[in-house]
Amino acid sequence: MNNQKILILDFGGQYNQLIARRVREQHVYCELHPFDLPLEEIRRFDPIGIIFTGGPNSVYESDAPHVDPGLFELGLPILGICYGCQLLSQQLGGQVTAAQADSAREYGKTLTRFDPTCRLFRGLPEESVTWMSHGDYMAKIPEGFRLAARSEACPNVAICDEGRGFYGVQFHPEVNHTEYGRQMLHNFLYEICGAKGDWSMADFKREAVEAVRARVGGGRVLLALSGGVDSSVAAALLAEAVGRQLVCVFVDHGLLRRDEGDEVERAFSRWDIDFKRVDAQERFLKRLSGVTEPERKRHIIGEEFIRVFEQEARKIGTVDFLAQGTIYPDVIESGAGEAAVIKSHHNVGGLPESVDFKEILEPLRMLFKDEVRQLGRALGLPEYLVARQPFPGPGLGIRIIGEVTREKLEMLREADFIFRDEVARAGLAGSMSQYFAALSNMRSVGVMGDGRSYDYAVVLRSVQTSDFMTADWTRIPYEVLDRVSVRIVNEVRGVNRVLYDITSKPPATVEFE
Ligand code: XMP
Repeated sequence: MNNQKILILDFGGQYNQLIARRVREQHVYCELHPFDLPLEEIRRFDPIGIIFTGGPNSVYESDAPHVDPGLFELGLPILGICYGCQLLSQQLGGQVTAAQADSAREYGKTLTRFDPTCRLFRGLPEESVTWMSHGDYMAKIPEGFRLAARSEACPNVAICDEGRGFYGVQFHPEVNHTEYGRQMLHNFLYEICGAKGDWSMADFKREAVEAVRARVGGGRVLLALSGGVDSSVAAALLAEAVGRQLVCVFVDHGLLRRDEGDEVERAFSRWDIDFKRVDAQERFLKRLSGVTEPERKRHIIGEEFIRVFEQEARKIGTVDFLAQGTIYPDVIESGAGEAAVIKSHHNVGGLPESVDFKEILEPLRMLFKDEVRQLGRALGLPEYLVARQPFPGPGLGIRIIGEVTREKLEMLREADFIFRDEVARAGLAGSMSQYFAALSNMRSVGVMGDGRSYDYAVVLRSVQTSDFMTADWTRIPYEVLDRVSVRIVNEVRGVNRVLYDITSKPPATVEFE
């Protein structure tokens, strides 16, 4: 790839992927790498500029992450954000200390004054809101630098050494709360690093298709299609690139939403590929029979998926490539720290052991989710497939609390369909991050007509989130909830109660299991 590149060094901050997305949004290609990427590899990567991310450490702690000082001699512009700013400052001879209560510890929206002669802030208002989250303070700025922004609490919110092209900001330009954050990043990329904006999805598509063709040659490619966005887009890209050399195995585990399996199949009818849909609901139901523990269900579904796929693959025989819909967030190595495993997410990621293939093909490896969607559109996949909300690999299997049975699946599919239908009619779909119905394991007494009922309760869930790590429940208008509730109890047999989940994450999770 001949695009200009920005290198982002990851110090473990929570917004790091967001920085990368913001850069790519401005049509500049970038990659996120651990902060200790060797200097040699940085040279080979050949970026036009470097960004240091934020991070949870304090630079003055003895084990705090640092960069190779040689990095400052490469002649490349650098932008340090939050921890990255303090690191830049400290490694170049400044001094960083813990902020005193009355000085410069700042969290949240902060009114900030900028020096518009600094190239980073050129063309922007002298005063605007930034988003801060730091407890450390640059007590002394390094030689050659000057102050370029201040807030009421803190005299040095941004520093710059224009001669060397080094910039540091204590706030987070990548988050929406920083009013002119995008423009600041734009200035860094275009004014300071000399970006030309040569990264676009149409180019990526063309290059990716060519790259797949060059690598695959006359070989055969096998892809496991789960019906999710990633594997669907990978399939479309491969279909476009190699047509009939692609064998697509769509494992329908029977835990999909209403009509989903048919929609996936229909979407691929426009390409001349070898498309095999395996209806495996019976197998999955059998394995799940009597199983109530969430992690065991996940494990069984993930494993069974691979088994079904392997069986089909054996019928196909030797292939040259096994393709996967791995995307960038799945491959990024984190710069620091590890999160606790709350749920094991089983996607199609696990490699089947007994499939006969020579190489792995991961054509979406460098793309973020929203870029995957753009690529899907560029490839002509229908909007209902491309724009679909996240759907867990184990599907409805983890939205039925307790044992999964055919009857429960039918109830849930109908209830979930009604919920989605009413949300769409109300014009709310685009504003909700993820929404679905789950089937509780609770049965309760109700009255229907003149009779007593003893039926299941459906739980509606909808969340607002940008990263799915934290989420708030959606304030759905009562009238919409009312319509959903009335329709579900009227139209879905076996359900006599509808509940709405009003817990955020944490302490709850998005899914129920
Ligand atoms: P939680 O429930 O962990 O969900 O708050 C966060 C996001 O992850 C999705 N999710 C899964 N995705 N396999 C997946 O592919 C899984 O096992 C799984 N569990 C949760 C969930 O839908 C939400 O978007």
